[in-house]
Amino acid sequence: MTGLDRRVPASESRRSARTSQKSAENLRARRESAKPGEPTSDAAGKVWLVGAGPGDAGLLTIKGLRALEAADVIVADRLGARAVLDGLAADGVTLRAELVDVGKLPGHHAVPQDAINALIVQLAHDGKTVVRLKGGDPYVFGRGGEELHACQEAGVAVEVVPGITSAISVPAIAGIPLTHRGVATAFTVATAHEQIASLSGGRDHTVVLLMGIATLANSAIILARGERGGDCPVAVVEDGFGPRQRVTVGTLSTIAHQAAARGIRSPAVVVVGDVVRLSPYAPAELATLDLSLYDPLASARSPRA
Ligand SMILES: C[S@@+](CC[C@H](N)C(=O)[O-])C[C@H]1O[C@@H](n2cnc3c(N)ncnc32)[C@H](O)[C@@H]1O
Repeated sequence: MTGLDRRVPASESRRSARTSQKSAENLRARRESAKPGEPTSDAAGKVWLVGAGPGDAGLLTIKGLRALEAADVIVADRLGARAVLDGLAADGVTLRAELVDVGKLPGHHAVPQDAINALIVQLAHDGKTVVRLKGGDPYVFGRGGEELHACQEAGVAVEVVPGITSAISVPAIAGIPLTHRGVATAFTVATAHEQIASLSGGRDHTVVLLMGIATLANSAIILARGERGGDCPVAVVEDGFGPRQRVTVGTLSTIAHQAAARGIRSPAVVVVGDVVRLSPYAPAELATLDLSLYDPLASARSPRA
C-alpha cells in the first residue's frame, strides 16, 4: 500500500489534519526565523535576497556572508556580486553552493527578470536554500522588491539582507561625502532619466545618478538649467573598487566633454553638487570655486586622476 491510497478513519484523519496543520505552522515559523548559517532541517527551501555591496568582499555584511555559507545555490548578478565571490575565494573562503550566473551587463539583461524570478522560486520549491546575490543593495535600483514579491506570491519563504549601495560607497572612495555640514544637507539618488528635471534644490542638495553614463550629456544640461547652474561641480567615479577605478571631476558644463575625451564607461556613479569640492581629486580651481582658471582638459591629460 502506498501513502497515497491508504484509507484512514475520520477521527484519525482529523487528528492527522490537525497535526499536519501544526507541523505546517511549525515549518513556516522555522523557515521564517531561520538565520543565515542555520538552514532549516526540513525539505522546504528559502530565498535570501542578499546585497553584495559595490564589489569589494570586505563590504559584504556578515549576515550576507553567513547566508552564502549556508546556501545550496547562489544566483548571482555580474556587477558587484561576481567580484565579491571572487574576492571571497581569494581570501580563502570556500562556498559549497552551486553558482548560477544570471550575468546582467549594463543595459543588457542576459537572463530576463521574469526568468530570474521563476528560477529562484523553482529552486526554493525544490527544497534549496537559495541566495540571490545582487550588486549593492537589493532595494536600490536592484529590482529586489519584484523578486521578493515573486517569492511571496509563490508561497516561498524569503528574507532580504541589505547591502552597501554603490550610491554611497562609490562616491566615498573618491572622498565625497553625500552630505557635509555647511555644504550639503540632502541627497537624491536617481537614474539619469528626464524625471531629474523635476528635482528641486541647488548645489547643497547632492544628486547621485546611477546608470547615468549613456545619458550624461543630457542629464548635465537638464541639471544645469536649474538652480545648480553650469559651473556646479560634478564627479564621475568609474568601476568603484574594481580594476578600472577612476575619478573624473568637472562641472555640469564640462563633464560631457571630459567623459568623451577620457572614454568614460559604465559602471559609474555620477555625483553633482558642492560636496564634489571636498574630493582630493577636485582640481584646485574647482575646490576653491574660482572657475575662471578651470581647464577641464587638464584632468583628461592625467591617466588616472
Ligand atoms: C542596476 S543599478 C544597481 C545598483 C545597486 N543595487 C546598488 O545599490 O549599488 C547599476 C548601477 O549602479 C552603479 N554601480 C554599481 N556598482 C558600481 C561600481 N562598483 N562602480 C561604479 N558604479 C557602480 C552604476 O551606476 C550602475 O550602472
